[in-house]
Amino acid sequence: MEKLLVKGRKRLVGEVMISGAKNAAVAVLPAAIMAGGKSVLENLPNIEDVSCICNTIEKLGGKCIHKDKHTIEIDCSGGIDYCATFEEVQRIRASYYFLGALLARYKKAEVAMPGGCNFGKRPIDLHLKGFRALGATVEEECGFVRAYADKLVGAPIYMDQVSVGATINIMLAATMAEGVTTIENAAKEPHVVDTANYLNMMGANIKGAGTDVIRIIGVEKLNGAQYAIIPDQIEAGTYMIAAAITGGDVLVKNIIPKHMDSLTAKLVEMNVKMEEGDDSIRVMANKPLRGVNVKTMSYPGFPTDLQPQMAALLSICNGTSVITENVWENRYQYIEELCKLGAKVDINGRIATIEGIPHYQGAKVEATDLRAGAAMILAALAAEGTTQIDGVRYIDRGYEDVEMKLSALGADIQRVLDKG
Ligand code: UD1
Repeated sequence: MEKLLVKGRKRLVGEVMISGAKNAAVAVLPAAIMAGGKSVLENLPNIEDVSCICNTIEKLGGKCIHKDKHTIEIDCSGGIDYCATFEEVQRIRASYYFLGALLARYKKAEVAMPGGCNFGKRPIDLHLKGFRALGATVEEECGFVRAYADKLVGAPIYMDQVSVGATINIMLAATMAEGVTTIENAAKEPHVVDTANYLNMMGANIKGAGTDVIRIIGVEKLNGAQYAIIPDQIEAGTYMIAAAITGGDVLVKNIIPKHMDSLTAKLVEMNVKMEEGDDSIRVMANKPLRGVNVKTMSYPGFPTDLQPQMAALLSICNGTSVITENVWENRYQYIEELCKLGAKVDINGRIATIEGIPHYQGAKVEATDLRAGAAMILAALAAEGTTQIDGVRYIDRGYEDVEMKLSALGADIQRVLDKG
């Protein structure tokens, strides 16, 4: 078992390069299995979730050839199995994209149902409803989903609720359905657009990704394509908050500043100085920062995946802040850990009320999920004394070289093996 040891209160200064987007990579990789040819995917983050998806592709009979640390060639031209019911698949939630991709290519799919971070109920009913609307029979067995059809036929689909996963999954299936599919009330997240852009490069006909209505004209086959994944909005946001929480001065590079607008607006409101470049943002913080209210929403609203990191920052800002979590019903498990470092937070349903404290005090805490882990690191960076963070495996799912990147900015952070 590995853990992180962080000696806090070091001001972060310098430059950090953001990796490719986890949530785009875990959709684009399964999309690659739909092609009759080879795809070369660039700017992939070197993280556990990507390895897990690649292992799944290989177990299905495809080839994943690592060209370098961030480039992988996917070759499923020889055909692959449609049954992904092995244990690997359950490890990450995004494996549900294999359902849409296999259904598109083979008109049948069996996929074990998802694991990933646990923050309350995480249904996939909208994904399945979409597949059914395209003509598939969908059966939920104990621990896996089976979907099959003689043919998929395009249809108008209205999403009851904005869902990133359902939007992408239905888009995958509809890409190779007969005729036209429209997805209304679609998610507009950057990785929805990224997946659509890659599919279009493969020969798909998808318009409107990034708006509320996506229109897909089905095609018979897809070719491989060379494609570079977008930068990670959430990793970028985490480093922007790291600069703010340590009163630092950090140039966050290789990002799309537009994707950061909701966070940038909040940081400015808190008194953080920002300088936006073409593909970078410089974050300069001089304390004291003031507390603000944050409501999570689907894109372009404030991302739920930055909510725990923001709570870590707001806890040491002046005054009272209120967070409203609108996306997930139970995403405050990490608050108990944050309170071990001294945070004063009151939870009432989806609302967290945070009273600012002068600073954190180092303690032993646990990363209860990926972004909760990021919040623990951020709080530890600002804490007096040493913080021990357990559950590092969660953090490794989504953050590439986290301790290396932070050390280069001047943080005192080490990964050690816990022999106990
Ligand atoms: C994706 C992200 C995750 C992020 C979330 C919201 C990936 C791999 N993960 O998750 O990090 O926190 O978007 O930005 O991209 N819902 C239903 N039925 C469904 C699907 C979703 O009711 O079939 C509900 C969920 O319970 C939740 C909301 O819709 O309340 C949003 O979920 P969704 O956007 O689907 O999240 P994911 O795609 O799973």
